[in-house]
Amino acid sequence: MSNVKVAVIYYSSTGTNYQLARWAEEALKEAGHEVKVARAQELAPAEAIAQNPAWEQHLEETKDVPVASPDDLDWADAFIFSTPTRFGNVPAQVKQLLDQAGGLWGQGKLVNKVVSGMSSAMNPHGGQEATVKSLYTTMMHWGAIIVPPGYTSEAAFTSGGNPYGNSVTVDGEGNMQEDVEQVVKDQAKRTAQVAGWVKNGQ
Ligand SMILES: Cc1cc2nc3c(=O)[nH]c(=O)nc-3n(C[C@H](O)[C@H](O)[C@H](O)COP(=O)(O)O)c2cc1C
Repeated sequence: MSNVKVAVIYYSSTGTNYQLARWAEEALKEAGHEVKVARAQELAPAEAIAQNPAWEQHLEETKDVPVASPDDLDWADAFIFSTPTRFGNVPAQVKQLLDQAGGLWGQGKLVNKVVSGMSSAMNPHGGQEATVKSLYTTMMHWGAIIVPPGYTSEAAFTSGGNPYGNSVTVDGEGNMQEDVEQVVKDQAKRTAQVAGWVKNGQ
């Protein structure tokens, strides 16, 4: 197996996607890959964050997680993105990072990067698939190689089975409604495995 560099990039207001990112990191490190976890820069005004204690607390707890930048995209062979659903799309915080990738895109540096996405939402049919596909639209412009999990993990059949990119439903208190730890770990390892094949083949 070939070891690769993986950037696990997430945005999270209340901790769900942070946890998905940490599970991905754990699996990737166990498999011997080099991993950077980075969060999309918070952009919401302090007044909005202050209205939600869980949001405020999560931001404080994760203030030491490095903020993701285009340099992370340049560094990595593979990216795992984890993003909440916002009206069936990625949040502005994630879009802001993607929109900073124009320079790398112009230099062709995102071509053949291997990518995969994960998401969460409050409703079982609240737009998780649309969010992941929206993320992938940008990746197509990059010429990246998208690695959807499909049903490659046995655990997909007991955890919601989102073949576009694993996703989880959260309740009003932020509790995950499905056990997605294994599928997230399997998705991360598969993405890195494909990145290894791509790297070796070049
Ligand atoms: C502005 C906004 C829009 C949202 N849109 C949706 C939505 O379209 N569908 C849905 O099921 N949940 C929606 N949610 C709920 C979030 O997806 C949920 O809180 C998030 O996935 C939790 O992830 P986090 O803990 O990582 O922040 C929305 C939340 C906010 C604040």
